[in-house]
Amino acid sequence: MPETGRTPNPTTDTANGHEGQQMRAIVQDRFGTADVLELRRIARPQIAPTEVLIEVNAAGVDRGFVHLVSGTPYLIRLAGFGFTKPKHAVPGSDVAGRVVAVGGEVTRFHSGDEVFGIAKGSYAEYAAADEQKLVHKPANITFEQAGVAPISGTTALQALTDVGKLKPGQHVLVIGASGGVGTYAVQLAKALGGTVTGVCSTAKVDMVRSIGADHVIDYTTHDVVDGTRYDLIVDIGGRNSLRRLRRALTPSGTLVITGGEGGGRWTGGFLERRIGAAALSLLGRQRLTGFINKEHYTMIERLAEYLVTGAVVPVIGQTFDLDHVPDAIRDLAAGRITGKASVVIRPN
Ligand SMILES: NC(=O)c1ccc[n+]([C@@H]2O[C@H](COP(=O)([O-])OP(=O)(O)OC[C@H]3O[C@@H](n4cnc5c(N)ncnc54)[C@H](OP(=O)(O)O)[C@@H]3O)[C@@H](O)[C@H]2O)c1
Repeated sequence: MPETGRTPNPTTDTANGHEGQQMRAIVQDRFGTADVLELRRIARPQIAPTEVLIEVNAAGVDRGFVHLVSGTPYLIRLAGFGFTKPKHAVPGSDVAGRVVAVGGEVTRFHSGDEVFGIAKGSYAEYAAADEQKLVHKPANITFEQAGVAPISGTTALQALTDVGKLKPGQHVLVIGASGGVGTYAVQLAKALGGTVTGVCSTAKVDMVRSIGADHVIDYTTHDVVDGTRYDLIVDIGGRNSLRRLRRALTPSGTLVITGGEGGGRWTGGFLERRIGAAALSLLGRQRLTGFINKEHYTMIERLAEYLVTGAVVPVIGQTFDLDHVPDAIRDLAAGRITGKASVVIRPN
């Protein structure tokens, strides 16, 4: 993709020692398809007192990015991501890299620290990040592995633990086991002592088995609701109806609605499913619930413990350079990515 050399974005830098210096970044001026993403030269971001500036090595690509580029479902515009155009001109959240400047109130990081977490605009050579969303990168994982872990990994961890209350020995169904969140959910559920059944499409069955799933269901040839009962269902993809999923739960089982595409342009089906889940939970001992990922360093620290021991190894299906971020979003939206896609800006 050609660089357009257009006017720098107004969220530009000043008082962090990088004044006036430029960087290459993906910039999005409006909502739309992957074609609205342009590689430009803009000023490095300005950091607030509680933020650090990161020299970005790698950044993950997840479904949230697809939604933020298109501005759909429209609910996300009401949630503060920009009403008529994106609030943040540079997209990208997952990040791994080195700290090159710290704000005056930052206490946990210094220049030179290797970090990973959630930034504001990580598809760029430099990104600002709130220190509350960052942790130190363990030495035994690469920047690329760290860069694809934060959002998907912590979402899976919360689904299984804080929300799903998984106990050792329980049977877990992960619907969407081959994707960004699902590949972490399968590995974490095993590490937490669960017996795991993963659901994915034909081409990804072997991969899901290879990351530890005890059983794999190919949703293109088999019904997920086949009479087996699970203590916990983590519902990430496929949009099975709540009534069907209840039939796959034990009498006191838990359904954790985590995600799912195709729910319409207004709410993505999110509100309707949450309301339906709350209503159905009143009918018996089964618990049907949903959640929004908590973006806080304490969650990323908990995830990092599994990355350090190797109990969880990020599955990186495809790697892109900064120029090809639009291809990453096209491939992700088309279901061509196995596990996570990563954008490598500075190789390890
Ligand atoms: N609650 C939160 O805070 C939170 C946080 C992060 C993400 N999410 C949401 O979670 C969802 C998944 O995110 P992701 O990054 O994991 O996406 P992803 O990487 O695209 O993975 C989607 C998964 O769904 C599977 N799938 C697709 N169609 C299916 C079907 N008909 N039946 C069963 N499985 C099917 C895919 O399997 P194949 O690829 O094998 O077809 C894949 O495993 C998205 O809707 C995202 O917005 C929510």
